Amino acid sequence: MADSPVASYSKTQIWLHWSIAALILVQFLAHDGMEHVWRSLRRGQEAAAGDWPLAYMHVVLGLAVLALATWRLWLRGTRGVPPVSGLEHPALRLLAQTTHFAIYALIFVVPISGAAAWFLQLPGAGLVHVVGKNVLLYLVLLHIAGALVQHFVLKTDVLRQMLAFRQA
Ligand code: HEM
Ligand code: HEM
Repeated sequence: MADSPVASYSKTQIWLHWSIAALILVQFLAHDGMEHVWRSLRRGQEAAAGDWPLAYMHVVLGLAVLALATWRLWLRGTRGVPPVSGLEHPALRLLAQTTHFAIYALIFVVPISGAAAWFLQLPGAGLVHVVGKNVLLYLVLLHIAGALVQHFVLKTDVLRQMLAFRQA
């Protein structure tokens, strides 16, 4: 693990943050194909040919989230991340840290449970996947609200730092 906190996110950490966010957005917007194929498979029916490419895309992009999340967690452990800043109240700091921790957990739990449902045909894992993606959605909304409050109300540099794609 990294010994001392660093001052800012590295370029790679910033790219990983936004790549994972973009992939998750696509997963939420284009899940219909996967849902149709999954439902047909569960009922022992043929899925419509047009749904398969979207289902495969869901699998590939979801596994990409898992790979990037693993890289990101490794970087967090080896390089470190800046401490949560600009939040004076300990309760708000704790809320930000807890939200980050839970989002981290879910960017592993959601793709792993999806993969278990898909590759091992486990309906229970499918349930974990669906509940997990809902919790992830609400936490990300809270996270975005927090980032906007930090930027516009508390006037901190945190969002600007996360958007500074060219820093070292
Ligand atoms: C972070 C990555 C992922 C996100 C955000 C995500 C998101 C979603 C969403 C929004 C649905 C629709 C659920 C519904 O409302 O019924 C879904 C369904 C599903 N996903 Fe994913 N997914 C991810 C990764 C994966 C992976 C890697 C796989 C397989 C290898 C996978 C397999 C499935 C399956 C089988 C379903 C149908 C489950 C059901 O409806 O019970 N997902 N996913
Ligand atoms: C699915 C979408 C997103 C996910 C999964 C996500 C996840 C995370 C995680 C886990 C962290 C903690 C960083 C770390 O400790 O390694 C973080 C930090 C951050 N995120 Fe996001 N994020 C998402 C979307 C967004 C969006 C849309 C914004 C802007 C509105 C944003 C702004 C930030 C900022 C400013 C930080 C730095 C917070 C700090 O250091 O206090 N994120 N994000």
